[in-house]
Amino acid sequence: MKTITLPRFNDMHVHFRLGQMLKNVAPVTASYCSRAVVMPNTLPRPILNADDVIWYRDEINRALEDAGVSLGHFTPLMTIKIRDDTTPKMIHSAVYAGGAIAGKVYPKGVTTNSGNGLTSFKGIGKTLSKMEDSGMVLLLHGELDLERTIQSEWEAAFLPQLEWLSANFPNLGIVLEHVSSAEAVQAVLDLPDNVAATITVHHLVLTENDVIGTKIRPHNACRPMPKDFTDRDLLLEMAMSGNPKFFLGSDSAPHHRRSKECAEGACGIYTAPILPSLLAETFEEHGALDKLEAFTSRNGAVFYDLPLGGEFFPAETIMLVEDPWMVPDEVDGIVPFMAGQTMCYKLA
Ligand code: DOR
Ligand code: ZN
Repeated sequence: MKTITLPRFNDMHVHFRLGQMLKNVAPVTASYCSRAVVMPNTLPRPILNADDVIWYRDEINRALEDAGVSLGHFTPLMTIKIRDDTTPKMIHSAVYAGGAIAGKVYPKGVTTNSGNGLTSFKGIGKTLSKMEDSGMVLLLHGELDLERTIQSEWEAAFLPQLEWLSANFPNLGIVLEHVSSAEAVQAVLDLPDNVAATITVHHLVLTENDVIGTKIRPHNACRPMPKDFTDRDLLLEMAMSGNPKFFLGSDSAPHHRRSKECAEGACGIYTAPILPSLLAETFEEHGALDKLEAFTSRNGAVFYDLPLGGEFFPAETIMLVEDPWMVPDEVDGIVPFMAGQTMCYKLA
């Protein structure tokens, strides 16, 4: 039987939510990751400051403990949401008292729970400088819904802001999250090494046709929306290139079935249950299994300056076994990515 052994993943962008959903989804990611960067766009309590970070980390760890996950194997990496009212003092305490490693900007209104998002980078210059000084990484939801701009162009519309940030905060670690277009990939390649990007597995396999082609498929809807074949080709090339600027951030984003199958369905794809299987299959299909480890387990840690092994994170591994299984139609009220389809690798 064919097997693939990899170091436990670093998923540098995941949504754990709160309450029962947190209890359901966090153990799934913890089963194959050594760490995950946990997004702060939670409701009803968004993660905005040190107190929120400390509280949310406890909630996550309690959910994992209740599920029998040994906490030595998985560390949630905490983030705060950066808004117009985020002060330098809040950055200081989030980093030094809360242990947050990154701050996430959602431009106002472009995605799930971003109603309270940022309206202007220029208005938070001192906050960004404080992030730069304290080593806090800036995570960008890189879309801008400019007037009379079609949604497929929102990512391209954001790129001048990325370039402005890079030019004005040269020592700030910046991650353009869930990069989806060739223009954005090129911008990241052209900027200095402190600018990187995460890539999701769904952007490696979907195009816009899979969301709004001959059928409308709400469970493939996400922000940014998957784009054209040429965009997807370039994303595949980058993920499989070993280039340290590109690493895994699954953006696994669970929503209840009822919030997806309705008049105003939420954007977000729950990929956590199939992430290792689908990545292995995709890389194998392109003859790039030897590049999988850098993408899932190395480049992200290096960018965030996190240890790759050693005392705290012994190089623990996961094993995938070739053993076809069908992705369930629903898990805990959530329709997972590729529901009803067959995966060839299973996590041992
Ligand atoms: O598809 C997405 N879902 N994109 C985001 O930016 C947010 C996320 C969510 O929270 O559901
Ligand atoms: Zn996200």
